[in-house]
Amino acid sequence: MRAYLITGGRRLEGLVPIHGAKNSVLPILAATILTGGESVIHNCPDLSDVDASIAILRHLGCRVSRAGETVTVDSAGLDRCDIPEKLMREMRSSVIFLGPILARTGQARVSMPGGCELGPRPVDLHLAALRRLGAEISETGGSLRCRTRRGLRGAEIHLALPSVGATENAMLAACGSRGTTVIHNAACEPEILDLQCFLTACGARVRGAGSPVIEVEGGIPLHAAEHRVIADRICAATYLSAAALAGGEVTVEGVARGQLAPVTELFTAAGCRIRQEARRVTLTSGGALRRAGPVRTAPYPGFPTDAQPPVMAALTRAAGSTVFVETIFENRYRHAQELARLGADIRVEGRVAVVTGVPALHGAGLEAADLRGGAALVVAALGAEGESVITGIHHIRRGYDGLPEQLAALGAQIAERPPAAETEEKPWQRSESTNGATQGKKESFSTSTSWSPSC
Ligand code: EPZ
Repeated sequence: MRAYLITGGRRLEGLVPIHGAKNSVLPILAATILTGGESVIHNCPDLSDVDASIAILRHLGCRVSRAGETVTVDSAGLDRCDIPEKLMREMRSSVIFLGPILARTGQARVSMPGGCELGPRPVDLHLAALRRLGAEISETGGSLRCRTRRGLRGAEIHLALPSVGATENAMLAACGSRGTTVIHNAACEPEILDLQCFLTACGARVRGAGSPVIEVEGGIPLHAAEHRVIADRICAATYLSAAALAGGEVTVEGVARGQLAPVTELFTAAGCRIRQEARRVTLTSGGALRRAGPVRTAPYPGFPTDAQPPVMAALTRAAGSTVFVETIFENRYRHAQELARLGADIRVEGRVAVVTGVPALHGAGLEAADLRGGAALVVAALGAEGESVITGIHHIRRGYDGLPEQLAALGAQIAERPPAAETEEKPWQRSESTNGATQGKKESFSTSTSWSPSC
């Protein structure tokens, strides 16, 4: 199987232009369904999750083309309202198509989404929001059947948690609802604001994104638009983590000032030098860090849960102990056991992990189990003596465009090994964890199911 071969111990120097944000481009691609025209999305990263979104759009009848970082979606020809389980299982973001399909067609049939196994990852908040807008939803064995008898209607929605995905689904469905919708306890991530920017470019009346209260004046016909996706703050945090551990001076370019604040504050406390300009952050490190934190993940503008794994890797050699508290996901420390194979000292107890710095890390065979955990293994291998081999890199390809090439340009010794002969015995290889479907809570059933044949 494909693997990254990394020989650590080299300083990293240079500038990284940060590509478009995975967690922004995915809901925006889903939103193109609402317009019925030809939207042009720039700064789209080359990621397998973007490929999966394009496959869903094409399945639904949209014409999608890609030229470099620009993806063009013509959703005029949309003629289906179902997404096959195989496509739904590709990623968590597939559930974001539910709202716009329902808003556009009045029906939708999907299954539970896939994505990183960070815990149960239910979709109950998505479904509750859509029900508030008038959707009838039933679940049979992990597939969701949704419809609206009289179209979606604006409503007050109170999210029990500031869920990023549920906020996005509600915004998209609200655009196709008659009347005004107010979403309370909305997620405030920058990617939500980017989605609002695209929707308003399409003629929607949406305001409040970036705050806990978002108002949508629905029922306005939307037209296609052109949009440039914001830079990926989590990828930026990952490159800064690599420089912090390996030592050197790395500048990340493209992320709006302030979006990395919790991460840059943490690395400043750990002994790195941080210089910031409007859309550039430079981290300088001698590689010998000191303990920092505690690192407690939280919804934006708190410490981003997605940066927890790479930042943890960066602190595995820091003098002293750093406490991590993962408040967002139930099971987001799977990278800890792999980091221990490099010699890291990490004690995990539920949502708390204590990282005690060790004098040195040593190369080993590692296996990525999820996207950001895989990135953490790359960061740690860059700071380890000797060679590491990282398998399961398909997880990493979901969210990092050109990671090996970019790191090599900074001076890292990293190469991608093509799939090896299946018969070759590899001591560290365990059965690959599959992307199992995440199971939502059982939903009550609606009795009458007179559905159109395509749904
Ligand atoms: C988005 O996932 C991101 N993914 C995640 O990034 C990110 O970690 C997460 O937001 C939090 O910031 C995309 O945007 C594609 P949530 P999402 O709904 O929307 C619970 C990465 O590495 N919850 O904000 O799925 C949930 O279980 C990925 O790029 C419910 O209980 O996250 C979690 O504990 C990983 N019911 C918490 O809320 C629901 O219906 C936050 O989840 C929905 C969520």
